[in-house]
Amino acid sequence: MASTSTSTIETLDFSGLDPLDRDRTLLEKFDALAPGATLVLKTARPAQDLLETLQRERKGQFEWTPAGNASGPDGIEVFRRDAASGSGRGIFEALAWDHDRLDALDVDAFASLEAGDVPGARATFAAFARGLERHIRFEEEILFPSVEARAGFSPQAGPTAVMRADHVEIRACLTGITTTLDGGGAGATGIRARLASILSGHNMKEEQILYPLADRVLGPVEADALVGSIQRLH
Ligand SMILES: [Fe+2]
Ligand SMILES: [Fe+2]
Repeated sequence: MASTSTSTIETLDFSGLDPLDRDRTLLEKFDALAPGATLVLKTARPAQDLLETLQRERKGQFEWTPAGNASGPDGIEVFRRDAASGSGRGIFEALAWDHDRLDALDVDAFASLEAGDVPGARATFAAFARGLERHIRFEEEILFPSVEARAGFSPQAGPTAVMRADHVEIRACLTGITTTLDGGGAGATGIRARLASILSGHNMKEEQILYPLADRVLGPVEADALVGSIQRLH
Protein backbone atom coordinates (compact mmCIF):
# COMPACT_ATOMS: atom_id res chain seq x y z
CA MET A 1 0.00 0.00 0.00
CA ALA A 2 1.15 3.51 -0.67
CA SER A 3 1.48 5.92 2.18
CA THR A 4 2.07 9.61 2.57
CA SER A 5 5.45 9.99 4.20
CA THR A 6 6.58 13.57 3.67
CA SER A 7 4.49 16.68 3.40
CA THR A 8 5.70 19.79 1.67
CA ILE A 9 3.26 22.60 2.19
CA GLU A 10 3.60 25.36 -0.29
CA THR A 11 1.32 28.22 -1.20
CA LEU A 12 1.39 29.09 -4.86
CA ASP A 13 -0.73 31.94 -6.13
CA PHE A 14 -1.14 31.63 -9.87
CA SER A 15 -3.53 34.52 -10.38
CA GLY A 16 -0.88 36.98 -11.61
CA LEU A 17 0.86 34.57 -13.97
CA ASP A 18 0.16 33.96 -17.61
CA PRO A 19 -0.49 30.31 -18.52
CA LEU A 20 3.09 29.61 -19.65
CA ASP A 21 4.64 30.99 -16.46
CA ARG A 22 2.00 29.20 -14.40
CA ASP A 23 2.73 25.86 -16.04
CA ARG A 24 6.50 26.29 -15.78
CA THR A 25 6.30 27.18 -12.08
CA LEU A 26 3.95 24.29 -11.33
CA LEU A 27 6.10 21.73 -13.17
CA GLU A 28 9.30 22.97 -11.51
CA LYS A 29 7.72 22.57 -8.09
CA PHE A 30 6.35 19.16 -9.00
CA ASP A 31 9.66 17.90 -10.38
CA ALA A 32 11.42 18.96 -7.16
CA LEU A 33 9.15 16.67 -5.12
CA ALA A 34 10.60 13.38 -3.87
CA PRO A 35 8.45 10.26 -4.47
CA GLY A 36 6.08 9.93 -1.54
CA ALA A 37 6.00 13.66 -0.85
CA THR A 38 2.88 15.78 -0.99
CA LEU A 39 2.61 19.30 -2.33
CA VAL A 40 -0.30 21.40 -1.15
CA LEU A 41 -1.26 24.05 -3.67
CA LYS A 42 -3.49 26.90 -2.68
CA THR A 43 -5.10 28.69 -5.52
CA ALA A 44 -7.20 31.81 -5.72
CA ARG A 45 -9.21 30.19 -8.53
CA PRO A 46 -10.55 26.68 -9.06
CA ALA A 47 -7.64 24.32 -9.56
CA GLN A 48 -8.81 22.74 -12.82
CA ASP A 49 -6.13 24.43 -14.94
CA LEU A 50 -3.38 23.11 -12.65
CA LEU A 51 -4.76 19.60 -12.78
CA GLU A 52 -5.05 19.64 -16.55
CA THR A 53 -1.42 20.72 -16.83
CA LEU A 54 -0.26 17.93 -14.53
CA GLN A 55 -2.46 15.36 -16.26
CA ARG A 56 -1.07 16.39 -19.63
CA GLU A 57 2.59 16.84 -18.70
CA ARG A 58 3.11 14.40 -15.82
CA LYS A 59 0.53 11.72 -16.51
CA GLY A 60 0.64 8.81 -14.07
CA GLN A 61 3.18 10.45 -11.78
CA PHE A 62 0.80 11.78 -9.17
CA GLU A 63 -2.39 11.35 -7.21
CA TRP A 64 -4.40 14.33 -6.08
CA THR A 65 -7.28 15.18 -3.79
CA PRO A 66 -9.14 18.33 -2.87
CA ALA A 67 -7.15 19.78 0.01
CA GLY A 68 -8.02 19.03 3.60
CA ASN A 69 -8.40 21.52 6.38
CA ALA A 70 -4.94 22.97 5.81
CA SER A 71 -5.57 24.80 2.60
CA GLY A 72 -9.14 25.87 2.09
CA PRO A 73 -11.76 24.94 -0.45
CA ASP A 74 -9.79 25.77 -3.59
CA GLY A 75 -6.61 23.98 -2.63
CA ILE A 76 -5.42 20.63 -3.91
CA GLU A 77 -2.95 18.14 -2.54
CA VAL A 78 -0.66 16.58 -5.10
CA PHE A 79 1.10 13.35 -4.11
CA ARG A 80 4.18 12.32 -6.09
CA ARG A 81 4.19 8.69 -7.20
CA ASP A 82 7.39 6.77 -7.76
CA ALA A 83 6.58 6.16 -11.42
CA ALA A 84 7.74 7.11 -14.88
CA SER A 85 5.85 9.70 -16.88
CA GLY A 86 2.92 8.18 -18.75
CA SER A 87 2.67 5.08 -16.57
CA GLY A 88 -0.75 3.69 -15.81
CA ARG A 89 -2.43 3.34 -12.44
CA GLY A 90 -4.52 0.50 -11.17
CA ILE A 91 -7.68 0.63 -9.07
CA PHE A 92 -6.04 -1.10 -6.12
CA GLU A 93 -3.12 1.28 -5.93
CA ALA A 94 -5.13 4.50 -6.29
CA LEU A 95 -7.96 3.60 -3.91
CA ALA A 96 -5.84 1.86 -1.26
CA TRP A 97 -3.72 5.03 -1.24
CA ASP A 98 -6.88 7.04 -0.54
CA HIS A 99 -7.84 4.67 2.33
CA ASP A 100 -4.42 5.25 3.94
CA ARG A 101 -4.63 9.00 3.45
CA LEU A 102 -8.08 9.10 5.06
CA ASP A 103 -7.06 6.83 7.95
CA ALA A 104 -4.27 9.28 8.82
CA LEU A 105 -6.77 12.19 8.98
CA ASP A 106 -9.03 10.22 11.33
CA VAL A 107 -6.09 9.43 13.62
CA ASP A 108 -5.04 13.11 13.64
CA ALA A 109 -8.59 14.29 14.44
CA PHE A 110 -8.90 12.02 17.47
CA ALA A 111 -5.38 12.81 18.67
CA SER A 112 -6.46 16.46 18.73
CA LEU A 113 -9.62 15.56 20.65
CA GLU A 114 -7.64 13.57 23.18
CA ALA A 115 -5.32 16.55 23.64
CA GLY A 116 -8.34 18.75 24.38
CA ASP A 117 -8.23 20.64 21.08
CA VAL A 118 -11.89 20.39 20.09
CA PRO A 119 -11.75 23.03 17.30
CA GLY A 120 -8.72 21.25 15.81
CA ALA A 121 -10.45 17.89 16.06
CA ARG A 122 -13.55 19.33 14.41
CA ALA A 123 -11.56 20.83 11.51
CA THR A 124 -9.52 17.69 10.84
CA PHE A 125 -12.52 15.42 11.19
CA ALA A 126 -14.40 17.62 8.68
CA ALA A 127 -11.56 17.05 6.19
CA PHE A 128 -11.73 13.30 6.88
CA ALA A 129 -15.52 13.18 6.50
CA ARG A 130 -15.41 15.24 3.29
CA GLY A 131 -12.70 12.99 1.85
CA LEU A 132 -14.48 9.78 2.81
CA GLU A 133 -17.79 11.03 1.37
CA ARG A 134 -15.96 11.77 -1.88
CA HIS A 135 -14.30 8.35 -1.84
CA ILE A 136 -17.67 6.64 -1.35
CA ARG A 137 -19.18 8.76 -4.11
CA PHE A 138 -16.59 7.75 -6.68
CA GLU A 139 -16.92 4.12 -5.69
CA GLU A 140 -20.71 4.17 -6.00
CA GLU A 141 -20.94 6.40 -9.07
CA ILE A 142 -17.94 5.26 -11.12
CA LEU A 143 -16.21 2.12 -9.87
CA PHE A 144 -19.07 -0.15 -8.80
CA PRO A 145 -21.19 0.34 -11.95
CA SER A 146 -18.15 -0.49 -14.10
CA VAL A 147 -17.38 -3.65 -12.15
CA GLU A 148 -21.05 -4.70 -12.10
CA ALA A 149 -21.32 -4.27 -15.88
CA ARG A 150 -18.08 -6.08 -16.64
CA ALA A 151 -18.35 -8.91 -14.10
CA GLY A 152 -22.12 -9.37 -14.42
CA PHE A 153 -22.96 -8.59 -10.80
CA SER A 154 -26.33 -7.28 -9.76
CA PRO A 155 -26.13 -3.95 -7.90
CA GLN A 156 -28.69 -5.44 -5.49
CA ALA A 157 -27.14 -8.84 -4.71
CA GLY A 158 -23.43 -9.06 -5.52
CA PRO A 159 -20.33 -7.96 -3.60
CA THR A 160 -20.90 -4.31 -4.49
CA ALA A 161 -24.31 -4.50 -2.75
CA VAL A 162 -22.49 -5.47 0.46
CA MET A 163 -20.14 -2.51 0.02
CA ARG A 164 -23.06 -0.13 -0.58
CA ALA A 165 -24.73 -1.36 2.62
CA ASP A 166 -21.50 -0.69 4.55
CA HIS A 167 -21.42 2.82 3.06
CA VAL A 168 -24.84 3.58 4.56
CA GLU A 169 -23.53 2.71 8.03
CA ILE A 170 -20.27 4.57 7.49
CA ARG A 171 -22.14 7.72 6.48
CA ALA A 172 -24.37 7.46 9.56
CA CYS A 173 -21.26 7.27 11.79
CA LEU A 174 -19.71 10.29 10.05
CA THR A 175 -22.86 12.29 10.71
CA GLY A 176 -22.97 11.11 14.33
CA ILE A 177 -19.35 12.01 15.05
CA THR A 178 -19.69 15.41 13.35
CA THR A 179 -22.73 16.17 15.51
CA THR A 180 -20.99 15.13 18.74
CA LEU A 181 -17.88 17.16 17.89
CA ASP A 182 -20.06 20.20 17.20
CA GLY A 183 -21.46 19.70 20.69
CA GLY A 184 -18.01 19.59 22.35
CA GLY A 185 -16.93 16.01 21.64
CA ALA A 186 -18.74 13.98 24.33
CA GLY A 187 -19.69 10.60 22.86
CA ALA A 188 -17.52 10.97 19.77
CA THR A 189 -15.09 8.21 20.69
CA GLY A 190 -17.90 5.66 21.12
CA ILE A 191 -19.21 6.29 17.60
CA ARG A 192 -15.67 6.33 16.31
CA ALA A 193 -15.09 2.82 17.69
CA ARG A 194 -18.11 1.65 15.74
CA LEU A 195 -16.89 3.44 12.59
CA ALA A 196 -13.40 1.94 12.98
CA SER A 197 -14.79 -1.57 13.23
CA ILE A 198 -16.97 -1.15 10.11
CA LEU A 199 -14.27 0.65 8.13
CA SER A 200 -11.43 -1.77 8.84
CA GLY A 201 -13.46 -4.75 7.59
CA HIS A 202 -14.85 -2.75 4.69
CA ASN A 203 -11.48 -1.51 3.48
CA MET A 204 -10.00 -4.98 3.83
CA LYS A 205 -12.77 -6.49 1.67
CA GLU A 206 -12.25 -3.82 -0.95
CA GLU A 207 -8.45 -4.13 -0.96
CA GLN A 208 -8.34 -7.92 -0.88
CA ILE A 209 -11.29 -8.73 -3.11
CA LEU A 210 -13.07 -5.92 -4.92
CA TYR A 211 -10.20 -3.74 -6.13
CA PRO A 212 -8.09 -6.68 -7.41
CA LEU A 213 -11.23 -8.00 -9.12
CA ALA A 214 -11.81 -4.57 -10.68
CA ASP A 215 -8.24 -4.46 -11.97
CA ARG A 216 -8.66 -7.93 -13.44
CA VAL A 217 -12.01 -7.45 -15.19
CA LEU A 218 -11.22 -3.96 -16.48
CA GLY A 219 -7.64 -4.58 -17.58
CA PRO A 220 -4.82 -2.03 -17.26
CA VAL A 221 -5.98 0.43 -19.92
CA GLU A 222 -9.56 0.76 -18.67
CA ALA A 223 -8.46 0.73 -15.04
CA ASP A 224 -6.11 3.64 -15.74
CA ALA A 225 -8.91 5.53 -17.52
CA LEU A 226 -11.25 4.88 -14.60
CA VAL A 227 -8.71 6.26 -12.11
CA GLY A 228 -8.49 9.32 -14.39
CA SER A 229 -12.29 9.72 -14.15
CA ILE A 230 -12.13 9.44 -10.38
CA GLN A 231 -9.53 12.18 -10.33
CA ARG A 232 -11.91 14.50 -12.18
CA LEU A 233 -14.66 13.95 -9.58
CA HIS A 234 -14.64 16.82 -7.11
FE1 LIG B 1 -16.11 1.65 0.02
FE1 LIG C 1 -12.87 2.33 -0.55
